[in-house]
Amino acid sequence: MKFFIDTANLKDIQEAVELGVLDGVTTNPSLMAKEGIKGTDAVMSHYRQICELVDGDVSAEVIATDYDGIIREGEALADLHPNIVVKVPMIKDGIKAIKYFSEKGIKTNCTLIFSAGQALLAAKAGATYVSPFVGRLDDIGHDGLQLIQQIVDIFSNYGYPTQVLAASVRHVPHLIQCAELGADVVTCPLNVITGLLSHPLTDKGLATFLADHKKVNG
Ligand code: E4P
Repeated sequence: MKFFIDTANLKDIQEAVELGVLDGVTTNPSLMAKEGIKGTDAVMSHYRQICELVDGDVSAEVIATDYDGIIREGEALADLHPNIVVKVPMIKDGIKAIKYFSEKGIKTNCTLIFSAGQALLAAKAGATYVSPFVGRLDDIGHDGLQLIQQIVDIFSNYGYPTQVLAASVRHVPHLIQCAELGADVVTCPLNVITGLLSHPLTDKGLATFLADHKKVNG
C-alpha cells in the first residue's frame, strides 16, 4: 500500500519524507490556500519545491472546469516535473480531459469521487488514480469505506489498472480499514501517518525495558 501525504505544507512533507515511508503527495486548492500560496507563479514554484522534496507522484489540481482550460492548465502542470499527476475534478469535461491526458501519457488523478459509477467512468477514461473521499461521505451520514470496497471490487472484476487512492482519510482506523479493503493508496495528513506509531503498551513496555536495564547497568 502506498502512503501519500495530503498537504501543501513543506515542513509536514519533509517530516514524512524523513520517516522514510512516503510515496507521494496530494494537494488541492484549499490546501494551497491554507499555506497562503497565491498567483500562478507562486503556485507553480510551490509544486516544484514539493517535487524536489519527494521521490513520488505529486497531485496538482487544475482550477479550470472547461475542457480547453483543463487541458491548458494540466499540460502546464505536467511540464513542471515528471512526478506531477494532473488532478482533475469528476465532471463531464474532466472525464474528456482525462481521456486526452491518458492518450498523451500524462498521469491523472480524478478527484471528488463520491460514487462507484463516477469511479468506473474515470477508470474507463484512463485515469491513473481515482480519489474517493471517505471522510466527506462519513460527514453526511454515508459509509465512505463501503465506497472503497465497491470500487476495489469493480476494478478487480475487470482488471482496470486505475489505482484506488482513498482520500479524505481522517484518522488511523480509516487508514487501517482502507488497507484491509485493498485500497492501492491512502492520502492523509501527517498526524494520521505518525498516529500509526502509537500504542500505549509500546510506551509502557519500553519504559519498563529501560528501567530494568538501568537497575542492572546503572
Ligand atoms: C484528496 O485528494 C483531498 O485533498 C483530501 O483528501 C480531502 O480531505 P478532507 O475531506 O479532509 O478535506
